[in-house]
Amino acid sequence: MTLDEFQSEAQEIGDAARQVLESADPVERLDVVKGRLNAAIAERLTALQRALGKLPHEDRRSAGQGFNALKNRLDEQLGDFERRQAAAKGAGERVDLTMPAREAWRGARHPVTLVVDEIVGIFRELGFTVALGPEAELPWYNFGALNFPPDHPAMEMHDTLYLEGEALLRTHTSPVQVRTLQRYEPPVRVLIPGNVYRRDFFDPSHAPAFMQIEGLAVDEGISFVDLKATLSEFARRFFGTAVTRFRPSFFPFTEPSAEMDVQCQLCGGAGCAGCKGTGWMEILGSGMVHPAVLEAAGVDSERYTGWAFGMGPARIAMQRFGLPDIRLLYDSDVAFLEQFVR
Ligand code: DAH
Repeated sequence: MTLDEFQSEAQEIGDAARQVLESADPVERLDVVKGRLNAAIAERLTALQRALGKLPHEDRRSAGQGFNALKNRLDEQLGDFERRQAAAKGAGERVDLTMPAREAWRGARHPVTLVVDEIVGIFRELGFTVALGPEAELPWYNFGALNFPPDHPAMEMHDTLYLEGEALLRTHTSPVQVRTLQRYEPPVRVLIPGNVYRRDFFDPSHAPAFMQIEGLAVDEGISFVDLKATLSEFARRFFGTAVTRFRPSFFPFTEPSAEMDVQCQLCGGAGCAGCKGTGWMEILGSGMVHPAVLEAAGVDSERYTGWAFGMGPARIAMQRFGLPDIRLLYDSDVAFLEQFVR
């Protein structure tokens, strides 16, 4: 072998190696690619090394340099392939859009909130917007403007915490009727969800702090027909084909006043523990807004009339979800509440 032949064989071995490595797919296993590389050049490389020893002395120096240059070239080419492989792997990890995401627990709405949202949704379709008012309320809004005479026995059910200064924790959402009418001219149709506070003991059907939803519609020519039609439609939408009844009642801020019952959903009216054997569930109090309330809010009671209602969504949630004890809704036991997630 002459020196020229030696150098051109070294060149060809390098080219053969490049061909193998450039045509290899970067996702192939490295040892498989190296195997193919060996098959292509190993024998020729050994033969070349052997030929080096047989060259004339004066050629060995430049032949040796050529051989080392070939070894370096092979290392570089293999290094290039390994870098291509790493890049392909990294790119694969970044853009694998087919991998399903792991779902994170982001919390969920409380059963009472689910009921409130559903009720608000139904009344929104009937033309009602949502209004809010303060939980720390002035006695005049909580009682006086709502036509409670001073020391009236109706106030006994409404004992509450009196705060320093003039305010108290409101005992119902009805004061927001007055605040809304002071702020907005009729026609007014609002739903008022919020927390209220009472002297009640924590027992299976009472809580000292609970949610209420108030409803109020004031306009010219509103009559009891509007009250009954709207509330019956609400019951039909919320409970399905519900049978309802209205019973005469008393509230200082309505005249006349009525309680609405819905046929018990648990027993279909036959009477069960859930409805205490009556076959009916008390859902809400309602009535025609008392003219004294309209006047207290600055509304002309000769021109305008209105109707209102108040209900407790926790009681409705108990009925909806078949809960025997209202306290379950206040325990914040996630393992229990989780079953209502939707
Ligand atoms: N505020 C009453 C309560 O807490 C509920 C109520 C009854 C509200 C009749 C009303 C209503 O607006 O018309 O017991």
